[in-house]
Parts: sequence; C-alpha cells; structure tokens
Amino acid sequence: MTLYERLAEEIALLIRRGVLRPGERIPSVRATCRNRSMSPATVTHAYGLLEDRGLISTRPRSGYYVNAQLHAFPPEPEVTRPSRRSVAVDVNELVFEILEATRDRRLVPLGSPFPSPLLFPLAKLGRLLAAAGRRFDPWLTVESLPLGSNELRRQIARRYLESDVIISAEDIVITTGALEALNLCLQVVTRPGDLVAVESPAFYGALQAIEAMGLRAIEIPTHPREGVVLAALRAALDRHDVKACWFMTNFQNPLGSTMPEENKRELVQMLARRGVPLIEDDVYAELYLDGLRPKPAKAYDRGGIVMHCSSFAKCLAPGYRVAWTAPGRFTQAVERRKLMSSISSSIPPQLAIAAYLKSGGYERHLRNLRQAFSSQQAQMAEAIGRSFPAGTRVTRPRGGYFLWVELPKSVDALRLHRGALEEGVSVAPGPIFSAKREYMNCLRINYGHPWTGRMKDAIAILGGLIDTML
Ligand SMILES: Cc1ncc(COP(=O)(O)O)c(C=O)c1O
Repeated sequence: MTLYERLAEEIALLIRRGVLRPGERIPSVRATCRNRSMSPATVTHAYGLLEDRGLISTRPRSGYYVNAQLHAFPPEPEVTRPSRRSVAVDVNELVFEILEATRDRRLVPLGSPFPSPLLFPLAKLGRLLAAAGRRFDPWLTVESLPLGSNELRRQIARRYLESDVIISAEDIVITTGALEALNLCLQVVTRPGDLVAVESPAFYGALQAIEAMGLRAIEIPTHPREGVVLAALRAALDRHDVKACWFMTNFQNPLGSTMPEENKRELVQMLARRGVPLIEDDVYAELYLDGLRPKPAKAYDRGGIVMHCSSFAKCLAPGYRVAWTAPGRFTQAVERRKLMSSISSSIPPQLAIAAYLKSGGYERHLRNLRQAFSSQQAQMAEAIGRSFPAGTRVTRPRGGYFLWVELPKSVDALRLHRGALEEGVSVAPGPIFSAKREYMNCLRINYGHPWTGRMKDAIAILGGLIDTML
C-alpha cells in the first residue's frame, strides 16, 4: 500500500467505527499534513480516494465532511439452518463446472478460490528455489521420505509456538497442498459408508473428499461470526454415529467465521470425550485482519485427537503446493498413507520455503498482505452495499479473503453465475458449498485481488443482474 492509501484506509476505519460520524468535519488537509508529517499531495490524494469511495465530500471554503448518506454496510446473515438428515454427497460435477469457469484470467475473479498471485514474493522464492536446486544434497532425496524436509518441519514447528501449540518436527507430515493433507487424514479415520460432520455451508473440497470416499455428510448449523454451533453439534453426535468432524475453526470458507477461543476448547473436550477425531482445516490462519492471531483448536488438544492441516498456498507461495498436517495420535497412520499414495512431496520447493522462513521477510510480507485484504474487504463490502438490493446480507470476517453474501430469496445464484460469466465476471454460487445444494440465493465473493475500477464495475454488473431476478 502507498502512504496515501494507508492514510485513506485509516480514516475509512475511523468512519466505519463511528469515531468520525456522518455530517462531521474531518481534519483539514493542512492539519493532517502537520500532525502526520505528510506532504499536502499525499493527504489530498488520500482525501480524493475517500471521495471516490463515497465516504467524504468537500464543501466549498469549509473543508471535508463525512457524507451524511453513507452507504451502510449491509447487515450480517443469521445462523444457518441445514436440514438434520445425513446424506450421500453429490456436488462434484457442479463444483468442477464452476471452478473450470473461474480459471480464465480475463474474468473478474470474484468467484475465484485464490487471492491475487501478484501479492506474493514469488521473485524472491524463485531465487531461493534456484539456489535450493544448485545446493541440493543428493542424500536429501532419501532422508526426506516420506515426512518431508527436516528443516522445513522444524521451521513449521517453531511457528506453531506463536499459536500456543507445542509440537516437534517429528509430529509433522509435509504434503502436496493442504487438500492432500486433509484427504489423508480423512482416509485414516473413516471407512466407506461412515458419517462425517461438516459445517454448513462447507468448503466444497470437504464435500468432494466425502463424496469420493463413499462417505456421508451431516451438516451442522454454523454461525456467520462464531462458526459451528456447539449445541447443534452435540445433538448431532447424540443422534448419529459420527466418525469424524471436518471443521475450519478460523476464517471458515465460505462464511469467514472464527470460533471464539472458549468454543474451540469446548469443541475439543466434547470430541475427546467421545473419541471423535477433528480434522482441522486451518489454511487461512495467517490471514487475520484485526491484529489478533487466532489459535487453532489444536492448541487445546491434550489427547492427540486434532489433525491440524495448513498450507503455504494462501499466505506465501501459491503454486508451490507445500502444505502439512500435524495429525496428533494419527501421525504414523498418516505417514504410511502418504508413503502409499505418493512416497513424499517434491523436495526443492520445501527447501525454498524453509530458506524463505529463515531469511526473515515473512512477517513483513504477511503484514502487507493483511493490510491489502483489510482495505479490499472494506471496499468490496461498501460496493456491495451500494449496488445490491435491500435485503442483502453480507458477512464481515476478521480474516481470510471471502465475503458470504445472502441475497433476497428470489435470486437464483446458479442463474446469476451463468449471467455474470457472459458479462466477464465470475462468482461462486452458494449450492457448491452444500451437500444438499442449499444456499441457492447465496454467493461467495473473493476480495483477495487489488481493488480497481474493474472490480467496482463487476459489482455494479452483478447488482444489475440481481435486480432482474427480484
Ligand atoms: C478451506 C480450504 N481448505 C483447503 C484448501 C486447499 O489448500 P491447498 O491449496 O494448500 O491444497 C483450500 C483451497 O482453496 C481451501 O479454501
């Protein structure tokens, strides 16, 4: 972010939090220059940006004021209420069709599962990868089987300390993407026909894995801010023979919910008492936007029932496919599965990432990434508030890069997806996040790409299409 963008973002935050109220005067350009030691050009630029965003306007000879008619952020959705039946899952075809449609780089990528690849230190990683290749110790090709690079596992174990998780390098298995980690964990703790609890809505990758392994899913009501509703989970565990839970405790995809620490503790205790393993998908953990690093449920795990899975794909190195699992008491079983399925993951990308983590630039990169997502989230939510009809509800996640949008009931998200594609815009329609194809009037919107006029226009296009369905 440039200096003026940062200033604009800080003032936007003050407006959002009600410190600066509609109709109030904001500090003059001269006062801001003096107080913050900034040039007039920087401050004028920042104020111009806020004007473009509809947050402030000038009054001749009087200064800048917060707009009285702020487009309020739409309200948040309520807790979800999936049906209580367990079901065989049938989402694969729909997910493939929709993901295929989001890959074209000419589209405005509101439906993409990925953040912009341009926000990552790929040049530096590339240099480290080349160096790792040059210095590659031939014996590593043998030593790293099947768990992965010792050095990388040591770096990951050190990073766990920041989240109050004490594990050692031997407790970690490196995988090719978190999706492999999650799939290996699921294979280890279930047999075909078993029942797995998932959130509702759920990450479609979980639904696809359940479908592919011939399992059944029970969808648990989920709060858009606080994640899985524990009372509902307890009732489901009482009623059904659930063999595993697959949950995202932080920045759930697609809702963005994060379980409060107390709920995570209770979740782990509840599952430990019943001997039900928790596959914890924590791929967005580093992407907290409010300065508060959330802990994983793994931090409360005393008996080794939490199989924690995470990845560098979303926070550092898209395309490198370097991820891992810390599967607690199931580590040996996962290790054997990994050996059976691919022996081990490619070593040079692991060495490049280990070198990057050692080099010390990771925190700065993460700070920039979080700042970019934070400002993009605000801009996206504001644009949705301006362009989408009354009755729209939008989540305000504390992390990650997705908004979940609930539209008026008459809107058909699959039709909207097709109409938007014709206009060069992708969206992720709600039904791909449900085993029973629920959430027909919902969308997941990606704000992980730099905010541009093209994005703004895309939201206006969606607003226009939605209006035709009311
Ligand atoms: C919630 C969630 N879990 C897991 C994954 C897979 O992560 P990876 O790219 O490391 O395989 C994704 C990727 O989209 C995701 O959104």
